[in-house]
Amino acid sequence: MNNLYGEKLCEMFASCVNSRPLKKAAKYRVGVDLGTANIVVAVVDEGGEPVAGKMQRAQVVKDGLVVDFIGARNIVAKMIEELNEELGTELLSGACAVPPGTGIADSKATMYVVESAGLEVLNIVDEPTAASKVLGISDGAVVDIGGGTTGISVLKEGKVIYTADEPTGGTHFTLVLSGHFNITFDEAETMKLEGKNQKKLFPILKPTMEKVTDIIRRHIKGFNVETIYLVGGASALYGLKDVVENTLGIKAVVPKYPLFITPLGIALSCP
Ligand SMILES: Nc1ncnc2c1ncn2[C@@H]1O[C@H](COP(=O)(O)OP(=O)(O)OP(=O)(O)O)[C@@H](O)[C@H]1O
Ligand SMILES: [Mg+2]
Repeated sequence: MNNLYGEKLCEMFASCVNSRPLKKAAKYRVGVDLGTANIVVAVVDEGGEPVAGKMQRAQVVKDGLVVDFIGARNIVAKMIEELNEELGTELLSGACAVPPGTGIADSKATMYVVESAGLEVLNIVDEPTAASKVLGISDGAVVDIGGGTTGISVLKEGKVIYTADEPTGGTHFTLVLSGHFNITFDEAETMKLEGKNQKKLFPILKPTMEKVTDIIRRHIKGFNVETIYLVGGASALYGLKDVVENTLGIKAVVPKYPLFITPLGIALSCP
């Protein structure tokens, strides 16, 4: 990522997530990312610097929609409680996010999870727009390849001019490995996440990468996209950036911490 600001934010967040707060502040801005694979709460100070955070794997959301309300609420409430204790404060409000194009009813479900966990929701943003704040970009396509879905936003002069979301993400790569090696989903997930395995898994995962690439191609068609920013956990997969770049002939960028871009962007979207 040719963006030192965003990289620094991610590095700071990486150093405090599920660890000790970096510092205390007079005012906190909170972002809650309810993902298909991960729930993340990011806390930044008034100036937008990360100070604390929590992250946990959870299966309470499917394809961007809350499927286990109580489970989601309990996880977020516990995270907030721990953050309150560590920061010596009472976090009262925050922002949350939904995949682009989510309807009002589903956006409300996300909002209710956060509110029932004790935070008044001051803003609901769409995920790629949140990501663009950390990427520090005003033009290009933001592609968030998360656990369940791939969300695409096209930005022009700082405005989102197109969004879409399709149900293919990190989970699908894991399912392919699970089928190929005849192992459980969890075993396949562990195999996939082991960095040293990824190079040799590339030929098996390439067709799914091509599918993701095809999703991107269809949605950016007709827009003058010069750079594709890949975020979300699954964009870290070995070879994905090259498949996207070589197939589409458009420069692709994967930041160093693709998992943290959207959650931090949500916190930055908190007024
Ligand atoms: N280093 C990595 N290499 C490959 N895949 C990874 C890596 N780290 C995380 N992932 C995958 O990224 C996915 C989770 O990403 P992320 O946290 O962005 O998703 P999410 O926000 O929970 O899901 P969604 O946005 O689709 O609701 C999982 O499928 C996980 O296996
Ligand atoms: Mg996500």
